[in-house]
Amino acid sequence: MKHLLSLNNLNSNEIQDLLKLSEKLKRQTKEGVQHHLLKGKTLGMIFSKSSTRTRVSFEVGMYQLGGYSLFLSSNDIQLGRGESIFDTANVLSRYIDGIMIRTFNQSDVEDLAKYGTIPVINGLTDEMHPCQILADLLTIYEHKGKLEGLKLAYIGDGNNVAHSLLHGCAKTGMDISIASPKGYECDSRYVDEAKEAAKSIGSKVVLTQDPVEAISKADVVYADTWISMGQEDQKEEKLNIFMPYQINSQLFAKAKEDAIFLHCLPAYRGYEVTEDIIDGAQSVIFDEAENRLHAQKAVMATLMG
Ligand code: CP
Ligand code: NVA
Repeated sequence: MKHLLSLNNLNSNEIQDLLKLSEKLKRQTKEGVQHHLLKGKTLGMIFSKSSTRTRVSFEVGMYQLGGYSLFLSSNDIQLGRGESIFDTANVLSRYIDGIMIRTFNQSDVEDLAKYGTIPVINGLTDEMHPCQILADLLTIYEHKGKLEGLKLAYIGDGNNVAHSLLHGCAKTGMDISIASPKGYECDSRYVDEAKEAAKSIGSKVVLTQDPVEAISKADVVYADTWISMGQEDQKEEKLNIFMPYQINSQLFAKAKEDAIFLHCLPAYRGYEVTEDIIDGAQSVIFDEAENRLHAQKAVMATLMG
């Protein structure tokens, strides 16, 4: 494992190893045990989109690992003025030990990895959000005691989070059902990759337009915003189309009685999920947000250690 660009590049064992290391680092952090696995190392964090969780958890994580992090807004570095990915990758490789990047095109993240000589971590693109899903898997494991054999239902837009969930579930033996409105389905490339992984492990990948079918008997129910970053101009049109996909008490009741609710956040209460569900007893959204820290520390320690 040289980079974290897509969960599809990791095999099941690599994902399990990252989850085990996340758990260990989390336990040590709670016990106040220092683990300066990246002492003297520097992470550059390039952001072309907003962030609360990703930025703070990477920055704090690097500090807890004994290293240092640099926040590089694409508005402030020359990349935002048209400097090439090739030059950026080569220059940054001479200064720092790893790059976390949040941007639009997945191909830019892959090019950064291709042209540079240091590990690259995908902190979200329009197509993928692998760090989020590692934190989600850790959260599900903590609450359910296992991953294999569980059913996760994702209800909503078939983009970055859904794509990485496809990979993450398929590779850990979880069944995944995704319900999206027509025209907002997952990219078939990632569905095929997940089906391929699921085949060898014996799990199921189901895509539907019917939220009731997807959520039926689910152990884990997952929502993301209907309006992703960069799509703000589609808001009016999407709200009407997505309303039947709102996770409310009526829909949530079709999941298993002990189902947990996850949301990568930021959440918009009253749109993709109602307040009673996201703030209810079965919601684990803040454990999930916390686990970004622990999961990403494991990723950084593995790639940059
Ligand atoms: N879930 C997530 O990536 O949150 P941020 O956009 O706040 O980083
Ligand atoms: N789908 C959302 C995820 C935010 C973490 C977006 O791309 O904005």
